[in-house]
Amino acid sequence: MPRRGDGSAGAAVGARPRLLQIENLTVRFGGIVALQDVSFAVERDRITGLIGPNGAGKTTLFNCLSRLYQPERGDIRLNGRSLARSSPADIAALGIGRTFQAPALFASMSVLDNVKIGAHARGQSGLLTDAVTLPFWRREERDFEADARATLSFVGLADVAARPATSLSLGARKRVELARALAAKPLLLLLDEPAGGLNHDEVADLGNLIRSIRDELHITVLLVEHHMGLVMGLSDQVVVLNFGRVIADGPPAEIRENAAVAEAYLGTRH
Ligand SMILES: Nc1ncnc2c1ncn2[C@@H]1O[C@H](COP(=O)(O)OP(=O)(O)O)[C@@H](O)[C@H]1O
Ligand SMILES: [Mg+2]
Repeated sequence: MPRRGDGSAGAAVGARPRLLQIENLTVRFGGIVALQDVSFAVERDRITGLIGPNGAGKTTLFNCLSRLYQPERGDIRLNGRSLARSSPADIAALGIGRTFQAPALFASMSVLDNVKIGAHARGQSGLLTDAVTLPFWRREERDFEADARATLSFVGLADVAARPATSLSLGARKRVELARALAAKPLLLLLDEPAGGLNHDEVADLGNLIRSIRDELHITVLLVEHHMGLVMGLSDQVVVLNFGRVIADGPPAEIRENAAVAEAYLGTRH
């Protein structure tokens, strides 16, 4: 299927609205070009896989989306709106949620409290800018708690809500981090190697969970993953980076057959 070249949505037959547009993004670290003129779109309500050999620029792209890195050139648009003037602190309220390669949880806090932080990230701007009346605050605090519990159920961790986050296995801690991102009710969820360190059964469960995030929560997912079986099985679209450039962009079946992709992976280990 040909990719649509213009920024409009809904015109062509089968066209889907674009939630995220990456436009000519270039990032340099000294002499290293981490991203070079990278452009692609993420369609709403879909899972887009972002793959590429180590050092290809995947995490750099996520850090640009989180506004942790300032690109030298190019733009990122969420719902058509440029993120150029947004700070990392704005990102959750704008609707971008993220998990990290290594789960970043508050060790001394309970699983439930870790997830409540996510719910707060969404409510934060309202809480800070409105004149805070106590009844309003109490109502919101109850909503946060209810949302956090519902999200923990969704990821299958309702029964460990009261336990300290550190007491859980890596697989469960990754789910807590996922629940925290989901509790902020993002439009777009960025997952950086969620299958890393998981066993075979946990990877299968994770695949089902990511699918239900798309199908039941209607959250758009951008997935960086080295586990090829998972990313090819889950993704509606796959974007391939190599040395900071997009070398392929299309449905998984097309990517599997792509000679440039095979060559990029040849001789590299993941
Ligand atoms: N903060 C940084 N400072 C210097 N170089 C960096 C930094 N972050 C990434 N790089 C370099 O940019 C390139 C892309 O890295 P990265 O985005 O981490 O790749 P990937 O996530 O695909 O493995 C690599 O050459 C890496 O060494
Ligand atoms: Mg990386």
